[in-house]
Amino acid sequence: MDEILQLLPQPAQSRALQGLYLAQDLRRRSLEQDGDVYIYANFVTSLDGRIAIKSDRDEGLSVSDATANQRDWRLFQELAAQSDLIISSGRYLRDWAKGRAQEILQVDDPRFADLRAWRASRGLAPQPDIAIISGSLRFPIPEVLTAGGRKVVVFTGANSDPQRVQQIEARAGRVYVAGEARVEGQRLAEHFAALGYRTVYSAAGPQILHLLLEAGVLNRLYLTTANRLLGGQVFASVVEGAQFQPPAAVRLDTLYYDPVGVDELGQLFAAYECV
Ligand SMILES: NC(=O)c1ccc[n+]([C@@H]2O[C@H](COP(=O)([O-])OP(=O)(O)OC[C@H]3O[C@@H](n4cnc5c(N)ncnc54)[C@H](OP(=O)(O)O)[C@@H]3O)[C@@H](O)[C@H]2O)c1
Repeated sequence: MDEILQLLPQPAQSRALQGLYLAQDLRRRSLEQDGDVYIYANFVTSLDGRIAIKSDRDEGLSVSDATANQRDWRLFQELAAQSDLIISSGRYLRDWAKGRAQEILQVDDPRFADLRAWRASRGLAPQPDIAIISGSLRFPIPEVLTAGGRKVVVFTGANSDPQRVQQIEARAGRVYVAGEARVEGQRLAEHFAALGYRTVYSAAGPQILHLLLEAGVLNRLYLTTANRLLGGQVFASVVEGAQFQPPAAVRLDTLYYDPVGVDELGQLFAAYECV
């Protein structure tokens, strides 16, 4: 069963899962931004607010198999497909090197062939470019990342190791300083705009969401809430960092109920506009 119940906007109605987030047309929203970059982020969380829990593979964190699911993954892919640039982190490339990460937009997966065609019909390359945010610059760059003309742009703080910058620039794309001790959201967004990126998807985690919210450069937040509670003391939540002063404010824009996902326990797909 592919049906999703649209709860907001009203009136409630049935919708198909496939195409649900493509229909939100993020590229059109970015055109309405007057030259500014349009940045959106997405998370799947348990009801008790865990986006990642202690991994049973090593000392790191990973998304729980109890919340990750194919229906949410479909919508994740629809969000990624609409972007010019996907934001990720040094952590992602370290996981990739350990064989624990995969391509963010899965253009070669036959289940997402329609998304490849969707990009092609708009004159977009199969893969969006990729932005890596890292203070340490300690990550390997896998060959596949720069294949097919995809650009890798790296953003770091002013104190980064110049030798490491040189090594990365020799291997992949440019390294930009986008902050003092750490990368800052405003400087990051200015770099994106100067580089010609308009529609930017953050597939990174809670620290990067924090820097985007703190600078007020996040436009839209997608949150899938899977109907499970995970418990546990070691976990990541949607955002991590200093308390926001004032708190970041968002307004619920769309809400869908999926009765099928998460082993038929159900899940909510919400999208919030940052105000
Ligand atoms: N459930 C979900 O939907 C979801 C979504 C995303 C991620 N996750 C999970 O959440 C966990 C954490 O993900 P993540 O590590 O990608 O998220 P993150 O906490 O946003 O990013 C951490 C890494 O990004 C770099 N970084 C963050 N802020 C920075 C700043 N201001 N300046 C410079 N570098 C900065 C650092 O890299 P360096 O260490 O290289 O300096 C840091 O290790 C993972 O287990 C991931 O699987 C879950």
